[in-house]
Amino acid sequence: MANDTLSVTDNRTGKKYELKIENGCIRAMDLRGMKVDAEDFGLMAYDPAFMNTANCKSAITFIDGDKGILEYRGYPIDQLAEKSTHLETSYLLMNGELPTKPQLDEFVTKITHHTYVHENIKQFMDGFRYDAHPMSMLASTVAALSSFYPEAKQVKNKEVRRNQMMRLIAKMPTLAAFSYRHSQGLPYIYPNNDLSYTENFLTMVKSIGKPNWRPHPALVRALDVLFILHADHEQNCSTTSVRVVGSSEVDPYSAVAAGITALYGPLHGGANEAVLRMLREIGDKKNVPEFIKKVKDKDGDKKLMGFGHRVYKNYDPRAKVIKKACDEVFEVTGKNPLLDIAVELERIALQDDYFVQRKLYPNVDFYSGLIYEAMGFPMEFFTCLFAIPRTVGWVTQFEEMITDNEQKIARPRQIFTGPKKRDYVPTEKR
Ligand code: CMC
Repeated sequence: MANDTLSVTDNRTGKKYELKIENGCIRAMDLRGMKVDAEDFGLMAYDPAFMNTANCKSAITFIDGDKGILEYRGYPIDQLAEKSTHLETSYLLMNGELPTKPQLDEFVTKITHHTYVHENIKQFMDGFRYDAHPMSMLASTVAALSSFYPEAKQVKNKEVRRNQMMRLIAKMPTLAAFSYRHSQGLPYIYPNNDLSYTENFLTMVKSIGKPNWRPHPALVRALDVLFILHADHEQNCSTTSVRVVGSSEVDPYSAVAAGITALYGPLHGGANEAVLRMLREIGDKKNVPEFIKKVKDKDGDKKLMGFGHRVYKNYDPRAKVIKKACDEVFEVTGKNPLLDIAVELERIALQDDYFVQRKLYPNVDFYSGLIYEAMGFPMEFFTCLFAIPRTVGWVTQFEEMITDNEQKIARPRQIFTGPKKRDYVPTEKR
């Protein structure tokens, strides 16, 4: 369309420019030609925290935050959560289409046969303090995998790259389980290739003293659904970290380790742990109004953890599915007593002007921690339960970035606000 342009007048010079609009965007580089004189660097866009900047074109995950829509490769999240499995969804994310039966079988077999980690990893784990946070252990051991697979540096070689992607998806549950066992002082349990991805993980985490112990099938399914919900979420903080670090063409283990560390933070994946701490602090349903008051206090530093989202300005569609999963899990485990506090918090917050005006709704982390706790996971382990399924998102986004001809090493600009050039002064003269 001829009128898909933006007409701009630079009032500093009176010059007029026509900028092309494509996919609802202008190219920031098109601003560069707007100069006051030949010496001028040219106009830049200033956008701290990427509030309104698209950093890539992506065909993986679609979010409409105002409508509360989340789709992987076009498939609505609620349909996948109801009908798919985490490994089928992983195939979909990685390959763009749902697999045929033989394709899925081959994929599952490959993942299953990559679940073991080198024996040295155990010694590496043992080096951590007894009370090390499992996310620190996970991030470090994933980074260490890079030293076990030096060929992973060949990021442009599709076959080599895909091998590492499969290894990462396969080994993440093993590394997470080992970090849990270390923090509990329990012996590591090796993967069992006869079990499904999620059943194997739960077994490696929970089995003590009974080699044939198996987790309850309803809990396996509930965790698999949670894995589906967490598999990808387009350009969030950890995925952007993976893309930015990966843009230096470092191996995917190192890039994913960066993603794990980004996920660890309480504003991102660490929020599920923070929600549980908050519910414990509130302690009782009757204390909810007082807590909400503190959250709204402009001078205070309290946030309603598990509420709000940069993109969703509506109910997070994942939170809806999780709320339903809560019932299924609690039928097996008994109700988590903190649920009543969470439901009351949600009820009051959704009626309160502060939250309504700011469009703050429960996000994925609001209810997930309650399920994890009911399943017997300690709070410190919750974010590992996010990192395991997000691995497929990270590696898929890594591959999309590395094969995108428009991408280059990530390197934002800055607005320099420091002192102008000045001469060094010897210590005695300062
Ligand atoms: N509790 C109270 N007020 C909030 C909250 C909250 N959870 N979230 C946002 N606000 C307020 C914020 O103070 C601001 O108010 P004002 O306009 O008066 O200054 C307004 O809402 C807009 O918030 P913002 O901080 O500009 O929004 P953001 O897009 O930068 O932050 C967020 C998004 C998720 C970091 C934030 O909502 C938050 O900190 N939430 C709690 C942590 C959390 O649950 N994180 C998990 C996110 S979902 C899963 C994931 O990504 O891992």
